[in-house]
Amino acid sequence: MTEPEPPSVAALSFAETATQSVSKAAEQEINPWDVQAAVDAEGNVLEFDYPAISAKWATKLVDDALLERFVRVTGHKPHRWLRRRLFFSHRDLELILDTYERGEDFLLYTGRGPSSDAMHIGHTIPFEFTKWLQDVFDVPLVIMLTDDEKFLFKEKLKQPEVYEFARQNAKDVISIGFDVKKTFIYIDSEFFTSGFNRHFNLNATEFEKLVTNNQVRGAFGFHGSTNIGSNAFAAKQCVAAFASSYPFIWGNDINTYHRSKQLAAIPCLIPCAIDQDPYFRLVRDNCARMDQPSPKPALIHSKFLTALQGAGGKMSASNPNSAIFMSDTEKQVKKKINQHAFSGGQETLELHREKGGNPDIDVPYQYLAYFEDDDEKLVRLAGEYRAGTLTTGDMKKECINMMSAYVKGFQEARAKVTDEVLEDFLRPRKLEWKGNPNPTKKVEKTEEAKEGAAAPLLDAEGKPMTKNAMKKAQKLAEIERKKKEKEEAAKAKQ
Ligand code: TRP
Repeated sequence: MTEPEPPSVAALSFAETATQSVSKAAEQEINPWDVQAAVDAEGNVLEFDYPAISAKWATKLVDDALLERFVRVTGHKPHRWLRRRLFFSHRDLELILDTYERGEDFLLYTGRGPSSDAMHIGHTIPFEFTKWLQDVFDVPLVIMLTDDEKFLFKEKLKQPEVYEFARQNAKDVISIGFDVKKTFIYIDSEFFTSGFNRHFNLNATEFEKLVTNNQVRGAFGFHGSTNIGSNAFAAKQCVAAFASSYPFIWGNDINTYHRSKQLAAIPCLIPCAIDQDPYFRLVRDNCARMDQPSPKPALIHSKFLTALQGAGGKMSASNPNSAIFMSDTEKQVKKKINQHAFSGGQETLELHREKGGNPDIDVPYQYLAYFEDDDEKLVRLAGEYRAGTLTTGDMKKECINMMSAYVKGFQEARAKVTDEVLEDFLRPRKLEWKGNPNPTKKVEKTEEAKEGAAAPLLDAEGKPMTKNAMKKAQKLAEIERKKKEKEEAAKAKQ
C-alpha cells in the first residue's frame, strides 16, 4: 500500500464548496455562441461528451469504413485529425466522395468570426484541415470572415474595429498556405457592399423568406429582444454554402440578374467545429425549397482544442495564459507550456516513476496528439508516460519543440503576407482548379442535366421516381416541414 496522497488544491476547493451543499451540476452547452463543458455536482468541469452531442444532433461519427473509402477514392492517407477522430463527426461526407468519384465539382466553404486580432492554435485547426482538403480534392474554396456577425452579436464592438480584426485574421488565414488560385476570402462588410454580391444577396433574401422567427429562435435561442440583424445574419452564413452565390468563381457574368441553376446544384462541403452545426442544419432543412434548389451541404465537424488549463477550459484572447497564440515568441511558448499546461503526471518525480502519468488528461500530450504526425511516436510517448519512464518534464519538452516549430513556421509565412497578397485573396475573381484527375465513375450528362436540372429524386430502391411519385414525396416533405416548424414554434414559446 502506498501512503494516502495529500489533498490536491482542487480537492481542497471542493471541500470548501461542498460545505455550501449547493449542487453545481450543469449539462454541457454547445451552440454557436456558447461552448461550455458539463460540470459535476462538486463543480468540477468535465470533458466534452462528443458522442452525446453527435447522438443529440443526429450526425454520423467518422468510422473506419468511411476512412477506408476515403483512401480508395482519393488515394490519400487520411489526415491525422481524421485518423485520431479529432474531426469526429460528419453529415453526408460519403456524398462528397461520390461527387469526387464522378469527377464533378464541389465547393469547399469555411469561415471565422473575427472577434480579436490574435489567433491562437485552436483557431488555426479548421483552416489547416481545410487547406489539406483543398490539396487532396483540388476544388474551389471560399472563406467567409463574418465581421458583421461579430458586430451584431457583441455589444461593445464597433464596425471599423471588427473590420480591422477581419483583415488581420485574413492575413493569418493566408499564412496557413492556401493557394490563391483556388481560394476566395471575403470579409462580409466588404463583399456585401462590393457589387459582386448581387446573387449572394438574392439568395439571402430568398432564404430569409423561407425561415421564420420561430425557426431561428428554436435553433439559436433568440428571443423577442434579440436585434433583427442577428436573426437575419443566419441566412447569410447559410447561403454562403450555395455555389450560386459566387458566379464569378466560375467565370459567370455577375451583371445578369438571374442566378445560375447549374451553380445552385453544385454540392458543398463545410469543415467546421461542431458548435457551428445549428447554422447548417438550418440550410440543410431549407435548401431544397429554394427556387433553384441546392443539395444539402455536407459537413465535417471537429472537436474543440483544450485550453492550456485542461479539460473543459476555454482558450480565450482575454486570457493570454489560456492558449498558445500564433504571435507568441519562442520564449512565451516555452513558458506557457512549462508553467500553465495542465499535467497528467504525478505530484512528485518519485510518485510518477512509481505510478506513471495519465496522457488522456495531459495537455502537452493532447497538443502533441494534434500536431505530431507520427502515429508510432505518439503511441510510444503515451506508453512510456503511463509506465512512468517518461516524465512530465520530458512530455513538456516534446510539446515545446513541436509547438515552437509550428508557431515559427507560421510566423515566417505571416511575414510574407503583405497588403498586396491580402488584396489578391480578397478580390472576387474566377478561380482555377482541376478536381479529380481520374474520375472512376464518370457519368455522361444528359441534355437535361446540362441545362442544370437538379438530379432526379430516387425512390427507396434507388430508382428514379416518376413525376407523380415525386409530387407526392414533395407534398409529404412539405407537411413534415410544417409539422416541424410548429413543433419548433411551440418549443420556442416554452
Ligand atoms: N459563425 C462562425 C464563427 O463565429 C464563422 C463562420 C461563417 C463559419 N461561416 C462559417 C465557421 C463556415 C465555419 C464554417 O466563427
